[in-house]
Amino acid sequence: MKHRPAPGVAEATSATAPSATTARPSVVRVDPDAFDPAALEPAADALRRGELVAFPTETVYGLGANALDARAVARIFEAKGRPANNPLIVHVAHVDQARALVTAWPDAAERLARAFWPGPLTLVLPRRDDLPAAISAGLGSVGLRIPAHPVARALIERAGVPVAAPSANRYTQVSPTTAAHVVKGLGARVDWIVDGGPTTVGIESTVVSLLDPARPRILRPGMLGPDELARVVAGIDYLGDSSNAADLAATPQLSPGLARKHYAPRARVVLVDNATGDEALTPVLNGEAGPVGWIRLARSGVADGSHQIVLPCDPAGYAERFYGALHALDDAGCSVIAIETPPQTDAWRPIWDRLVRAAS
Ligand code: TXA
Ligand code: MG
Repeated sequence: MKHRPAPGVAEATSATAPSATTARPSVVRVDPDAFDPAALEPAADALRRGELVAFPTETVYGLGANALDARAVARIFEAKGRPANNPLIVHVAHVDQARALVTAWPDAAERLARAFWPGPLTLVLPRRDDLPAAISAGLGSVGLRIPAHPVARALIERAGVPVAAPSANRYTQVSPTTAAHVVKGLGARVDWIVDGGPTTVGIESTVVSLLDPARPRILRPGMLGPDELARVVAGIDYLGDSSNAADLAATPQLSPGLARKHYAPRARVVLVDNATGDEALTPVLNGEAGPVGWIRLARSGVADGSHQIVLPCDPAGYAERFYGALHALDDAGCSVIAIETPPQTDAWRPIWDRLVRAAS
């Protein structure tokens, strides 16, 4: 996949070393289509030394720390303000590195890894006891992923350690899709930021539990959907879609990170059925202090405006730009963001998941 450089970013690869006079975070900028992996060495070294390094993946920016260092992992929770009961995804550069972190590698894991890694897929498997307990939030499992972003893979490879990384935002806030979003949300809470331009998938990875390999369960929907997964493994379903009572009873333990309020901007989010039109908003908007922001679907008659962002009417194009639109309208001081809802089809399901959370 083609990665675009960040708009307004200096062309030259540059690193700003931390010192008494430079404020954190230090920033390394790289062009994802043409970079010298050696430029990542200061950030890789920081990871090895237990510091926090934000970096781009193809989905969203991650807040990385050495997954084998319990103190570094604790710093992630502190920087995000994240509750300890929400486990982290461990990012690796190779399948062998993933296998070394788990006590079982079922055939379903092998097939999914071969088909979709590197890529926006996280596999949940039984964890090895010697991993820091905090990574798994006390569960007996760990989420693993090989990201497809060339900068992420080069950084992990160079660091030589598995990298625990949640999205690089404060707890419940909107995930970052640019380095600027990370600076805005975390500022000096992060030691280094690797700026590799905007992300391309735009929403977080699909999380699949393989704790029962015969019944893979999607814990978090992502742009890699069940139809694609089902081409490789049998029995795949969304957790909670199945009528199986054991599945439903296990939901809170299996998927502790799915707090309802998540991905929420500062502004209040209102979902507007596109069949209803603008009039439906009038009662909602009465008495609003700040300007009303709009996220609309591209079709004839709507255009970008100072508080209106028009997104493509296909799920991949929409996902790529959705979080950026929430950030932009927040930054514009909107007190409410009205979102024209997309179709209720399977292809839009991962986006609906984020819309509902943003609005709750
Ligand atoms: O695309 C992504 O997945 C991004 C990039 C940085 O890789 N990361 C990300 O991390 O979204 P985070 O921490 O914001 O979300 C991780 C999700 C949560 O829903 C969490 O509960 C789930 O993965 N998860 C992680 N480990 C798990 C485990 N052992 N069991 C069940 N769910 C787990
Ligand atoms: Mg997150």
